[in-house]
Formats: sequence, structure tokens, C-alpha cells
Amino acid sequence: MSPETRTSSTGSSWWNDAVIYQIYPRSFADGNGDGVGDLVGVYEHLDYLEKLGIDAIWLSPFYVSPQADAGYDVADYRDVDPLFGTLEDFDRMLDSAHSRGLKVIVDLVPNHTSSEHEWFRAALASPPGSHERARYMFRDGKGASGELAPNNWESVFGGPAWTRAADGQWYLHLFDPGQPDLNWRNAEIVDEFKDILRFWLDRGVDGFRVDVAHGLIKHDELPDTTGTMALIEGGGNRGPMWDQDDVHDIYRGWNSVLTEYGGDRMLVAEAWVSPAERLSRYVRPDEMQQAFNFDFMTVGWDAPGLRRSIDGALETNAAVGATTTWVLSNHDVVRHASRFGLEDPTSWPKGIGAEDEQPLVALGLNRARAASLLMFALPGSAYIFEGEELGLPEHTTLPDETRQDPAFARTGGDEAGRDGCRVPIPWQSDKPGFGFGPTGKTWLPQPEIFGELAVDRQDGVLDSTLEFYRSAIAVRGEHGLGSGILKWHAATHVMLDFENSGVRVIVNFGVQPIPLPDGREVLVTSDADAVVDGALQPNRAVWLG
Ligand code: GLC
Repeated sequence: MSPETRTSSTGSSWWNDAVIYQIYPRSFADGNGDGVGDLVGVYEHLDYLEKLGIDAIWLSPFYVSPQADAGYDVADYRDVDPLFGTLEDFDRMLDSAHSRGLKVIVDLVPNHTSSEHEWFRAALASPPGSHERARYMFRDGKGASGELAPNNWESVFGGPAWTRAADGQWYLHLFDPGQPDLNWRNAEIVDEFKDILRFWLDRGVDGFRVDVAHGLIKHDELPDTTGTMALIEGGGNRGPMWDQDDVHDIYRGWNSVLTEYGGDRMLVAEAWVSPAERLSRYVRPDEMQQAFNFDFMTVGWDAPGLRRSIDGALETNAAVGATTTWVLSNHDVVRHASRFGLEDPTSWPKGIGAEDEQPLVALGLNRARAASLLMFALPGSAYIFEGEELGLPEHTTLPDETRQDPAFARTGGDEAGRDGCRVPIPWQSDKPGFGFGPTGKTWLPQPEIFGELAVDRQDGVLDSTLEFYRSAIAVRGEHGLGSGILKWHAATHVMLDFENSGVRVIVNFGVQPIPLPDGREVLVTSDADAVVDGALQPNRAVWLG
């Protein structure tokens, strides 16, 4: 294949070209009025999702959890936390989604349990060397009386990655102390998670998003590291806790479990691994089906960087026969409508606080819509994060006392953290809490601008971000862009220009208008002002037929 012509994956599995919508349950819609979103809220808004034209939803964790890390600390993998509803609510939501042709992916959190998980309670209650402790990463400390942590690893959320138990041993937690790491070299853990997979597959789920997929296996000797532990880096971190070769055995085992359920179930890896070649190992034919393409997400608003990232992803995935994914926002990062409005639109802040540079809202939104139109034109599948279809910005002035992300507290406020992208969705502009739930309560305060961006202010309104997403997703489907072949026309430092399935895609990153080629029909523009006198305006994108 010529270097100018690139395809995504072969094969016809549903995920290859799907548009997948991430629901962060606590922030999507509140059915019972306690201020926290829930599964009833999801069920009640499936019409909205169907109308958006997506193929699948991915639900962040709703399992039993003390919520030390918003549910990514699971105390019971086989039940729903009362905060989010019941298993019956889940089943009803799943059935209704399926009856609309929507697939449903759930989150699986295998790197760590909650410290409230019965296994961890049993581990703390049992002596060093016990069977119960062998499920986790307990070690003796260093120093004369073991008073020093076993090594120098730091938690991704800040502070040491070790906490000392009452009897003096230490346990490892790459994240919060409430998230003890499991010992994946223990066969009992391997069996248990296969069983958890089967529990949800039996209920009918279509796949799993695998949390921290690159972290399960640690270097045997747990050596000190000199590198950074930071997860949300986008960098090529191969410290002794990440991306160890043996981790792939686990995914081969899971692949076999999914095969028992026919060929239609999938696994998508959350693996902050680079270079792309290392990431592509997670999606070899006998492992997972997809991995999030965080390289694309972290590049920012930058034409050469995006070209490099797109080519790299398509090439390395094709080499292993896998599908490429594209993503611009999720529950861990600053929303792209805000990142792209910063003075440096390639910057990667770990949250934005009131004291930080405030993004330009209109500029950020123009670029976000253009970037989304670019994403929807790429072969492969696209993941969108709830609210990006409304053009929601990050909440950049959240009062400190409302912040709940453990990263904020554990870094002593150095990192504003991830709450700003997790603010409850506005459904109705004139209701308390912008219609998030029946009482107006919201677990995080919403910024005023959410009023004008509420669903009811955009539904049916020409050129709203919501209608733009609906038409881009529909036209993407009509032209088969997700399963097409990308052929570059030009890529400069201010422009990307390619063809896919008869659609010409042009994105303007510069400050000058770009004259469009004659004789082609305008199919979709990133907004109503994108094309003026036959020229594509700065910070805009267009699809031509
Ligand atoms: C993943 C999740 C993130 C969570 C972390 C620990 O990165 O996306 O939200 O905090 O894992 O489970």
C-alpha cells in the first residue's frame, strides 16, 4: 500500500467503524433526584442517544463502590451500587438499548479492587504470607524496622504508591490508597476475572472497556523507578509497573472467554502506552479488539502532529489486523472544546482551575467542532464523551471545596483534577440543575454557560453543536467513512486535506481562508460560518461530496 493511502481494519465486526458514546453514569442523567446520575437516567434518555445516531454506549463503572475514585474502586464486581440503581435497572436499560440496535460496553476494573472489597478486608485481617494477602501486592518495608516503603514508586494521583497496614507490611496502590493493586501472577485472580467477564456476558453485554490495561503485571522485582509514574501523560512510559510483556497472556485468556459467546463481543484497552507499535500489541488477533488511541487525543490542535498521529495509528493497527480508534475527550481529560481554546492549543493541563489561564470559549468550540468533523471522517471507530455533542466546555472555575477527584487532594491542589469534565449534563435550560434530574440537585455545580448549551436549546436548532453531531454521524454512516480508505491530498502545517470514500475532507488550522476546490458539493461543515465565498475559514472543517 502506498504511504499516501491508508485503511483501517479488515473484517466486518460491528466495532470496526462504530461511533461509541461514553456515559459517565454519575453525570449523565439523574432518575431518582439525589443529584447523582443513575441507570434509570440512562434508560430514560436512550431515545436521545438513538437519535444521535451512535452505534454503542460505553458505561463507566456503576458497581458497588465506596466511590473513592468515582466508582473505579470496585467493592463488588457483580452488583450495582445503590447510588446507580439495581441489577434489574441494568437489565432493563440493556434490553431497551438492544431493542434500539445499540450495543452496550461496560467498564472492567482489573488492576485494583476497592479497599472495601471482601478480599482486601480479608487480606488486612490475615497475617503476612497468607493466602489472603497473596491476592494483593503486600511487601515488607525497607529500613531497620520496615518503616520505609518497599520502593520509590509514586501513585498516579500523587504521593507514595504504598500504604502501611497496621501490622507493618505495605501494600501497593498505583492509584488511591482505596484502590489496592491485585496480584495478577496469582491464578486465583485470573480465574475470578474470567468469571466476572462471564457474569456480564451472560447478562448480554457486548464488550468491556478494560481500565488501566497496561498496568496489571508489574516487574517481578518491583525495582525502583527513575521515570515518572504519571499516567495521564501521553508519553512513552515503560516503567516497571507499565506495559510488561506478560500482561498479554491475560488478554489471550479473555479473548478465549469472549469467543465462547460468539464472535460479536469485544474488549477495548485503556492503555497509556507508546509508541504506537507497543500499543498495537494489545490488539493482536488473539487479544483485544481495540485500544484507545490516546496519541491522537493528546496531540491537540496541530496539523502536522495530527497527520503524524493518524498515519502512525492506521499503519501500526493495520500491521496487526486491528481496528483503529479515535478519541478527543473522556472523563479523565480536559474537554477538547476547552483545551483548544488555550493560548497553546496543544497543551495538556491536568484540569483547569480558576487561577489558571481561562480558555477562549468561542475559539475552543470552533476548533472542537472542526476536530470532531475530522475524527468522524477517519477510518476506524470514534469514541465520544457525553456532552461533547453539546459543545460543553470544561468547568474551569469549580470551587475547590466541591472538587472530588482524589488527584486534587493528593497533589495538594497542584492538579485541579478531572472534576471539570465530569459536571452533570444540562438537559433543560429553564429547570433547576438544568434538568439533570427531578429535584435540581447536582453532585457538582454546573457553570452558567450550561444553560444556553442545554439539550432543549439545541434540539432541532440549525447549526447547534447537537444538530451538527447528528448530521456528521449520519453522513459518516451514509458514506461508510468508518470503513473507508484514507488518501492524503495535502498536509501542511496549517491544513489537512484528504479523501475517504468519495468524501473530500479539509481542515483549516491556519489564519487564512483556504479556497475550496470547484465543483464539489458541501456535505457538512463544522459550523454555519465555515465556508465564505467558496473558502474554508480558519479553525473550521468541511466535507465535500
Ligand atoms: C483509569 C480511569 C480513571 C481512574 C483510573 C484508576 O485511568 O479512566 O478514571 O481514575 O483508571 O482506576
